[in-house]
Amino acid sequence: MKQYLTLDPWNIIEEQYDPQQQEISESVFSIGNGYMGQRANFEEAYSGPSLQGSYMAGVYYPDKTRVGWWKNGYPEYFAKVLNSTNWIGIGISVNGTELDLAACQVKSFRRVLNMKEGTLSRSFTATLPDGKEIRVEAVRFVSLARHEIGAVRYAVTPLNFSGTLTVTPYLDGDVQNKDSNYDEKFWVEVHKEVTADNAALTVRTKKLDFHVTSVMTFEIHQNGAKLALEPEQIEQEKYAGYRVQVEAKQHEETVIYKYVANVTSRDYGYAQLLDAGRSALQEAAAAGFGHLYEEQVQAWAAKWRESDIVIEGDVAAQQAIRFNIFQLNQTYTGEDDRLNIGPKGFTGEKYGGSTYWDTEAYCLPFYLSTADAAIARNLLIYRYKHLEKARENARKLGFAKGALYPMVTMNGEECHNEWEITFEEIHRNGAIAYAIYNYVNYTGDDSYLAQYGVEVLVEISRFWEERVNYVPAKDQYMILGVTGPNEYENNVNNNWYTNRIACWTMEYTLQVLSGLQASDPAHYEELVAKLALAPEETAKWGDILAKMYYPVDAERGIFLQQDGFLDKDLTPVKDLDPSNLPLNQNWSWDRILRSAYIKQADVLQGLFFLGDRYDLDTKKRNFDFYEPLTVHESSLSPCVHSIIACELGYREKAYEMYLRTSRLDLDNYNNDTEDGCHITSMAGTWMSVVHGFGGLRVKDGVLHLNPFNPGHWSAFSFKVMFRGARLQVTVGEQDVTVTNETETPTSISVYGRGYQLGGLGQVQVGIGNLSSSAIVG
Ligand code: BGC
Repeated sequence: MKQYLTLDPWNIIEEQYDPQQQEISESVFSIGNGYMGQRANFEEAYSGPSLQGSYMAGVYYPDKTRVGWWKNGYPEYFAKVLNSTNWIGIGISVNGTELDLAACQVKSFRRVLNMKEGTLSRSFTATLPDGKEIRVEAVRFVSLARHEIGAVRYAVTPLNFSGTLTVTPYLDGDVQNKDSNYDEKFWVEVHKEVTADNAALTVRTKKLDFHVTSVMTFEIHQNGAKLALEPEQIEQEKYAGYRVQVEAKQHEETVIYKYVANVTSRDYGYAQLLDAGRSALQEAAAAGFGHLYEEQVQAWAAKWRESDIVIEGDVAAQQAIRFNIFQLNQTYTGEDDRLNIGPKGFTGEKYGGSTYWDTEAYCLPFYLSTADAAIARNLLIYRYKHLEKARENARKLGFAKGALYPMVTMNGEECHNEWEITFEEIHRNGAIAYAIYNYVNYTGDDSYLAQYGVEVLVEISRFWEERVNYVPAKDQYMILGVTGPNEYENNVNNNWYTNRIACWTMEYTLQVLSGLQASDPAHYEELVAKLALAPEETAKWGDILAKMYYPVDAERGIFLQQDGFLDKDLTPVKDLDPSNLPLNQNWSWDRILRSAYIKQADVLQGLFFLGDRYDLDTKKRNFDFYEPLTVHESSLSPCVHSIIACELGYREKAYEMYLRTSRLDLDNYNNDTEDGCHITSMAGTWMSVVHGFGGLRVKDGVLHLNPFNPGHWSAFSFKVMFRGARLQVTVGEQDVTVTNETETPTSISVYGRGYQLGGLGQVQVGIGNLSSSAIVG
């Protein structure tokens, strides 16, 4: 861990050029707009260590699977988010010497990610190998208002000379994925065309035939006036651009504006791509950089109006929470139900950019509370659309019926290929069912169930029905050979969480079915016919619910993570020599599997999801037993612990866990930020504040708050959208104030007491009025 970023409430700031940190900064300073994203690579040439990364949402490559020992049921490919055409590039030469910071003496360097406005800027003074000194000020963004557009302003000032600048703005499709399984390049050229107005490049993927067309134009200004240029037009293999020479005077700025439109065959027919790209580009270039910038500021202001969290009295915490919110809003905007949230978003290649259970288990609550309900609904629709593939996946693994959603996917097909995860980490199916409940409970949108939700629930329940194992001698059902959320245990029997979420799914499905039968019998009959749902099936689910086996330790009063867990050496993590940590970098896999150490919340994940079914004493006993054995080596771990610790009144623990999740990437806690930022765990950070310190829960259509101030902050406030109302909750040292910022009235409960909050209304409650159910001991 190296803290090298300057603290600031709205900006991420790097004040020094450090090639060792470059790839980490490329991740941290990434920009995105839900449609495309870009790592913080330099515009000009750079020969130092760097991971070039320009990504187009939903454009992926099925890279042939690579495994040591093939197992039946493995997928043929791993879907990779594709590094696509580098559109930011602007080559700069000074009197024939190329600008490359790795070859320069860099005197001053400052990189700023302005989270309020959604822009990345960089300024530096560099001395080239021949002694010429220049100043560069660059700023760029991908437009939130016009999602296909990226814009760059790049200004060069000679400091100790006047001379010739050679400027080469270009599009380069000859790019590679670092994580390519067979070192293959995935793109081939389709078309390029450079005219006096614009340069265009269309490339297509070798498989699946995704086409991406990038069209660029540029201008150069000196003394506030646009220069009339006659640039050389360059066309090379998978490359299109311009080269032009301009005379630059000492101390005078030469400003290059580069506008780019990136369009893909996901949205246009192949034949339309060039025209679509050109027309989006023309409109953007005609609007001009200043106008596009202003649009960007406005669009981000609207995002912040709905999702900002303010922390007073702790700038490190303030910066961190905004960084998390910013990255989430950059990754997914919810306008396109074919898209989802990859664990690294647009900030790196690791994890293939695909969809994991992270979306349902961790990300959904953020979008539920900070955006229109339609956005969260689109996340559910995404899985509904993959139902057929999930059925196929279950068949492929030998199940006669039901659906098993994949652990990792791009288009609904499984692409993960480690047997202990692909075949055994089946609890993911439960998270997909739980997300449906979560959405309906939060929004009150029952119509989702009848229209889409029931089908998914029935198919998941059918999977569980077939996956459980009836043991006649015990007259009980069990689930054998699984991996729970704690991936540091594989092939275990009766993982409590898996058994629990499986039963919960069947129970919820039965409840939803009988609700539908009562409210809309005709539609219910239609669904029963469509799904060929037999009465024996629902009866069987009821039987499984009644006779499921759950491992417990009666003496300690805890649920057991799995059968036999207590046979392990239970030495707590704090008694391990710190040189052992992180275990995944220091221990053999065999040693990890035999140990009691837990990667991430497992039993506690169940107590978090089904929190209203367990009393505080039960949560306390389980937390006290499992947390000391947990190494939190998944970024998804600390947030769940922080939230439960809040409920239990373990304030210091809650704060410690919160710190660990919130600055994970800014301080590179896990030593892996160069691979990309941990986007899905950022939603967990948000939950730690809103569900943890804010104590937000929704019960029976009412928003409940149980806030406390973690004590390190003078105040904090957050926004939540709830059933048409937008509430601002401010937790100070003395009071909690809830303000309705909209005209829509709503009912809320604060510390267990109900309030009607009219349009624009406000309630203020003294802090510390924690209801007896809110704290333990
Ligand atoms: C975690 C999984 C998670 C995946 C992607 C793994 O380290 O154990 O729960 O789905 O990362 O974030």
